[in-house]
Amino acid sequence: MAISALKKLKPDEGQPAAAPTTPGAGPKPLPKKEAAPPPPAPPKKPSIEDIFLPLEPEPDGTPTQRGCISEGRADRLRLQMWLADNLRKSIAPELAIDDPLERTPEREAMVKQRFDHVLSQGKVKVPPDVTLEQFYSNVLDELFGFGPLEIFIRTDGVSEIMVNGPYIVLIEQKGRIRETGQKFLDDDHVERVVKRIIKPLGRIADIDHPLIDARLPDGSRVNSVIRPVAIDGPNLTIRKFSKDKLKIDDLLNFKSMTPNMGKFLEAAVVSRLNIVVSGGTGSGKTTLINVLSAFIPSHERTVTIEDAAELQFKQRNVVRLETKKPTPEHPGIVTIRDCVVNALRMRPERIVIGECRSGETLDMLQAMNTGHDGSMTTVHSNDPRSCFSRLETLVLMAGVDFPIAVVRKQIANSVDLIVQASRLRDGSRKVTHITEIQGMEGEMPILMDIFKFYDYGDKEDGKINGEHLPAGIRPKCEHKLKQAGFDFPPSLFMKPTT
Ligand SMILES: Nc1ncnc2c1ncn2[C@@H]1O[C@H](COP(=O)(O)OP(=O)(O)OP(=O)(O)O)[C@@H](O)[C@H]1O
Ligand SMILES: [Mg+2]
Repeated sequence: MAISALKKLKPDEGQPAAAPTTPGAGPKPLPKKEAAPPPPAPPKKPSIEDIFLPLEPEPDGTPTQRGCISEGRADRLRLQMWLADNLRKSIAPELAIDDPLERTPEREAMVKQRFDHVLSQGKVKVPPDVTLEQFYSNVLDELFGFGPLEIFIRTDGVSEIMVNGPYIVLIEQKGRIRETGQKFLDDDHVERVVKRIIKPLGRIADIDHPLIDARLPDGSRVNSVIRPVAIDGPNLTIRKFSKDKLKIDDLLNFKSMTPNMGKFLEAAVVSRLNIVVSGGTGSGKTTLINVLSAFIPSHERTVTIEDAAELQFKQRNVVRLETKKPTPEHPGIVTIRDCVVNALRMRPERIVIGECRSGETLDMLQAMNTGHDGSMTTVHSNDPRSCFSRLETLVLMAGVDFPIAVVRKQIANSVDLIVQASRLRDGSRKVTHITEIQGMEGEMPILMDIFKFYDYGDKEDGKINGEHLPAGIRPKCEHKLKQAGFDFPPSLFMKPTT
């Protein structure tokens, strides 16, 4: 039903209890008014009450990972979507419902005029559990944006948005993950938002392409898995791009590492040590690479290679490569491995790979060993020893038939430091180890911690009681640091005696 039809509702037809979500055809523009309405105010900054709604009680037997929606909430969402779809149809009839529609002041003014008109006719009643302002704002979010996600996109400090099917929506703020109580109407509603997000990127989401990994123009990273692969409903994970990238001073302020660890890492980067940042999902690996990259001297040429470009280097002589996924029109793919091999022909002094997940690890180690020292990458692993083992596995994924001792030697010869990032149980993110790979003893690698975070348990406020300390070992790489002008006193590496 279009907005013009909405106007024609007879009083007794009123607002449907369950308004259809699909708009009808034939919108008719409203008669023009004499004076143009003033441009609408920009969306206001959401407050904490807007973000977190009370969690609805769920009847016994509700599937835990699916959740549910109350009738009242579903009715409100239906009404919002019905209004939004009809208003949208009336201002942009040529667009499909899963096409994005840019939010411009002119369009917003048109929508406001039509919305007020519909309300003044008394055909649509604002549901009692929401204010007029909130209701209108929700309709706009549905019409122009990503529906229930808009509020999180607008809120600074929300770093990650996680949609586990329509009824479980969580966010991460200050390292803590919390369910928000926000809901989608149903699976189709989530998929519609997914399609609106990825359509401008030339990507598709359907039964044949249920796994979607993409980067938004603003740099945010998006992953979605839809039916039939997602069992409990289509899901969506957005790592929001943060305008203010964390810098070394931020990490020091957050006590993610000590100033001495910072100085050591700076020296390691300038001295062109090869560094692998290890860590679990969302532990801060990419952030660390970004922070470390700031220490690369500006005259050195770097090639960065990523699946979804997140790195932001401040130097000018940086060439950024991103892998290519297949699209229906352009089915070809370009892998990280292809990019690494190509990067070697681009005269790079350093190569930075966003993440090593497979056989490209072998190419990267070879690059580190052949004049591109000072290279960096990240690997998913929970501690430096597992990181070493993971590197072994990743090298073998290149399809080579090297004996394990040869693989270990290659890693030990190539990688100088493992910097371990962790997201701890209180939500804080810390560098928990700076570990040097000192060589081999027989067939075993020698890994020595230079700095370590000691975890002594929890404080009363739930925060972790712990401290970073040097492990008491003078690093083997010290001579390289000295050559680059970093002459650290031995005390920097010694454990305090008291
Ligand atoms: N030391 C830190 N203190 C506080 N927040 C941090 C810190 N490091 C990273 N973050 C925040 O944590 C989130 C995840 O960081 P990042 O993207 O670097 O993690 P990641 O390990 O690369 O994740 P993934 O495994 O998904 O690639 C970001 O929002 C980032 O701003
Ligand atoms: Mg990352």
